[in-house]
Amino acid sequence: MIQSNSCFRVGVVGAGQIVKDFHLASLHAIPWVRIDWICDIVPGRAAEVAAAHGIPRYYASIESCPMVDMVVITTPVGVRKAVLDFALDRGWNAFCEKPFARNATEHREMIDSARHRGVRLGAGYMRRQYHSTRTLELLLRNEWLGPIQRLIAADCDRIRKTGRAEWYMANPALSGGGFLQEMGSHLTDQMFTIVRAKNFSLTGCAQVKLHEIDYRTAATGFIITKTDASIPFSFLLSRLEQMYTGIWVECERGSVAIELSPESDVVISQDGERFVLPCPFTPIDAVTRAYREEIELFAGAIQRNETDFTDADTGLLASSFIDECSQTHIGMVTI
Ligand SMILES: NC(=O)c1ccc[n+]([C@@H]2O[C@H](COP(=O)([O-])OP(=O)(O)OC[C@H]3O[C@@H](n4cnc5c(N)ncnc54)[C@H](O)[C@@H]3O)[C@@H](O)[C@H]2O)c1
Repeated sequence: MIQSNSCFRVGVVGAGQIVKDFHLASLHAIPWVRIDWICDIVPGRAAEVAAAHGIPRYYASIESCPMVDMVVITTPVGVRKAVLDFALDRGWNAFCEKPFARNATEHREMIDSARHRGVRLGAGYMRRQYHSTRTLELLLRNEWLGPIQRLIAADCDRIRKTGRAEWYMANPALSGGGFLQEMGSHLTDQMFTIVRAKNFSLTGCAQVKLHEIDYRTAATGFIITKTDASIPFSFLLSRLEQMYTGIWVECERGSVAIELSPESDVVISQDGERFVLPCPFTPIDAVTRAYREEIELFAGAIQRNETDFTDADTGLLASSFIDECSQTHIGMVTI
């Protein structure tokens, strides 16, 4: 139990890019949170980040890290499970960067283990906090354009180089298989969040893989919502071509679309007219707010001793979707 008058202690595992760019600033911005330590297996990395960000302690192995109320785990998904297992054994609530797990089986094991120990888990699907995602979810939940008829979700950009030869993204074991996990898990979770999905089924799926890394996933199927509506969907995640990027939802009385950038507007089309609900934040504010809000929501729940969490809090449906896409192989293309 966390004492209400004590400071809320956080440990950070992984001193990489996402931590330096966003998580440390988000944590520092929450007045009642104190970052106690940072840990990274690469010698010197945690020390360097600790010095630059005023963190009192640093470690090279999680086994050496002292007690905290919560850990933020940002190791690549391929080396997540052992770290999380250790954190759960210590009874630490854990907020994990996306993608949450390498597959749905591992994902469920992590959830079961956390529930068994009475600790809370969360996943860093920060697009849930975007103004566009929230607005679209609200529009659809209230059926302002009538029931949903179909949904298209796509994230397409042609990759020319990774820029970091040793990067986890170039390693299928570390990245969890490639771009569907790395980038597509965001799009998948966002699509499911917007329509408040409880399940899905695939009617088709094709992947393009090169050296065990998926570069393109095209899938079709149905999303089942919490109100038992069945919505036909098309999904495309590609790093091979430039195509439509965004989420487009057709409803009975019009359609609504968002882009995938943090500062995206929401665009409604009805009877040949176009209405724009603008994002009130600058691009940098939009992205920093999203990172801060996801951490603050998670830490706030723990501070209130709310250790119960739903499967959706961890993005289980996204892990199941990624699994099924890579196992279904309807029209699989391997180069
Ligand atoms: N939410 C987002 O939009 C977003 C954006 C970028 C990255 N990410 C996710 O964040 C995670 C990390 O991405 P990154 O770009 O910061 O990667 P990174 O490679 O820059 O950093 C990962 C760090 O983890 C460390 N590490 C690996 N194994 C460890 C262990 N056992 N114990 C302690 N440290 C260990 C590495 O040494 C490295 O410093 C990935 O899962 C990625 O998908 C999310």
